Amino acid sequence: MIKIMTASPRETEELGAKIAAVLKGNEMIALFGDLGAGKTAFTRGLCKGLDISDGVSSPTFAIVNVYNGRFPVYHFDMYRIADADDLFATGYYDYIGNGVIVIEWSENIESELETDAIRIRIGKTEHEDHRVFEIEGLDHYADIIR
Ligand SMILES: Nc1ncnc2c1ncn2[C@@H]1O[C@H](COP(=O)(O)OP(=O)(O)O)[C@@H](O)[C@H]1O
Ligand SMILES: [Mg+2]
Repeated sequence: MIKIMTASPRETEELGAKIAAVLKGNEMIALFGDLGAGKTAFTRGLCKGLDISDGVSSPTFAIVNVYNGRFPVYHFDMYRIADADDLFATGYYDYIGNGVIVIEWSENIESELETDAIRIRIGKTEHEDHRVFEIEGLDHYADIIR
């Protein structure tokens, strides 16, 4: 597990871009954390790192946003996903392995995550602009990501 603190939204975006640099293009990145943790900020940075210039925002109503950069990115928000039928209807299972899957509110589909998913838990701190990232599945790349 890699543990990193960021001290601003910009630093969170930079972390996302660093992680983008080590991706092969078919990973699942499962984000965990409350509203306002920084899941979308992280995803924005990751997309920038993949040369995606579109505005990246929470796909709350669309459920999935698709971006085309160095790799396709499927950006999910699982906040409203209540059961297996809901998840199936998003096309989730068809996207797996065909691009980078980034998932907000992974808590809601935990049993359906790939076993080799990169898991990132984002925690708030007592300082308003500090966030703690706990990253599982990228220990190989610790030197690049830190
Ligand atoms: N270190 C930080 N990293 C990310 N966001 C931060 C940080 N510090 C403060 N923020 C603020 O927290 C909020 C994060 O929002 P967002 O990325 O949409 O969260 P989420 O998608 O998890 O709900 C933004 O208002 C951002 O300005
Ligand atoms: Mg969000």
